Amino acid sequence: MNQASILNFNIKNMKSIKHIDVSNKKVLVRVDFNVPLTKTQKIKDDFRIKAHLNTIKYLKEKNAKIILISHLGDPKKRDENFSLNPVASRLESLLSSKVKFVEEVNSKRVEELVENLKQGDVLLLENLRFYKGEKENSEEFASSIAEFADIFVQDAFSVCHRNHASIASLPKFLNSYTGLLLEKEINAIERAIKETQKPFVVLIGGAKIETKTAVLKNFLKKADAVLLGGEIANTILKCKGIYGDKKVEDKDILNALKGINFNHSKLIVPIDGVLYKKEYTRIAGIETIKAEEEIGDIGPETINYYKRIIKKARTIIWNGPLGKSEEEVFSKGTEEIANAIVNQKAYSVIGGGETIDFVNRKDIKGFSFISGGGGAMLDYISGKTLPGLEALNKKYEEN
Ligand code: 3PG
Repeated sequence: MNQASILNFNIKNMKSIKHIDVSNKKVLVRVDFNVPLTKTQKIKDDFRIKAHLNTIKYLKEKNAKIILISHLGDPKKRDENFSLNPVASRLESLLSSKVKFVEEVNSKRVEELVENLKQGDVLLLENLRFYKGEKENSEEFASSIAEFADIFVQDAFSVCHRNHASIASLPKFLNSYTGLLLEKEINAIERAIKETQKPFVVLIGGAKIETKTAVLKNFLKKADAVLLGGEIANTILKCKGIYGDKKVEDKDILNALKGINFNHSKLIVPIDGVLYKKEYTRIAGIETIKAEEEIGDIGPETINYYKRIIKKARTIIWNGPLGKSEEEVFSKGTEEIANAIVNQKAYSVIGGGETIDFVNRKDIKGFSFISGGGGAMLDYISGKTLPGLEALNKKYEEN
C-alpha cells in the first residue's frame, strides 16, 4: 500500500497528555460516549465508556480537574432521550468514584461547577448535539466551552472524521493534546496500514451510508476485495439496477458515488438475501426481489461466497453489520461472517458502534483490534483527511 497517501496524521507530532503536567489544570476531554441505548435509556453496551477509562484514570491520578464532553446519538435539538445522564451513572460505577453531571455545556452554572472542581474530580457535560453550533462547527460555540478549561485533550478518534465544533474547532482555542485511547487507536490502525499483507479484504455494512460511499473509491484502489452488506450494498444494488425498480434518490449519496464503476471486479455485492415484507421472510436471489420487499440480511449463497474470500485474506478490515442484525431473524449473515473473520489467520481490525455491539452481544472474540471508530476508521485507512486530526496537526505546527 502507498504509505504517503495514507499517513494523514503525523504521529511523530502527537503531543500526548503523558508529556505535560496536568496537575491542578482544568482539562477538557473530548470523549465518544455515543453508546447504544434501549428505548428506556438503558445502556446496552458500555464498550465506548470503558475504552476511555485509561485516559480518565490517568488524569485523575495526575490530579487534573476533568471536564468530559461528548455527543450521544444524533438529536437535532435538546431531547431527553439522548441525555448523557445515564452515562454519568455508568461511568461513576466503572470508576468507583463520583462523576458530576450538568444538563448544559456553556452556561454560568457550568462555569461555577468547573470552578468548584477539586483535583481528580470528574464533571460530564450534557450532549453537545443539543446545540446546533456543534454540528455547524461554530467557532463561537467551541470557544464558549473552551473558556472554562486550561487545556484540551482529544481522545475521541471515532468522531475525528466529523467537521464539528468539539472536533475541528476546539483545538484553535486551547493548547491541545492527544489522549491515551486516541493514541492506541491510531497506533493499531497504523499497524494495519503499514503491515498490510495481501490479500487485503474490506467489509462494509451498517448504516450512515453517506460516510461509507465516500471511501469506496479509495478502497477499490487499495484493497483486493470490498465486500458489501446492509444499506451500502442495497445502494450499490440499486445503482446496478438489480434491486427491483428501486433507485437511489439522495443527492449527497449520488454525489459521493460519482466515478465509481459499479461493475468493478473488486466490488462484491450480495447475490442472495433474506427478503422480507411485513408478514413473511424468504431466502432468494436478489434479482427476484419484488417491489414491496426489502433485504433484511445476506443469504446463504452470499455467506459462502464471502467466506471463501475471507479464507484467503491476510488483512481484514470490517465495519458495519451485513443486515438488519438488531433483529435476530436477520442476524445470521453478520454472525457467520464475524466468525469467519476470527477463524482466519489474518490481522483483523473491526470497528464502529453497531459492529462492536453485535460481536459483544454474540460473544465473538479473537479480532486483532477493535476500534471504537467506524466511519473514522474507514476514512483513516482509506487515506482521507480527518478534520479532528488535521486540527491537532495545525495546532502543533503553529507552536
Ligand atoms: C460513531 O458512532 O461512529 C461516532 O460516535 C460518530 O457518531 P456519528 O456518526 O453520529 O457522527
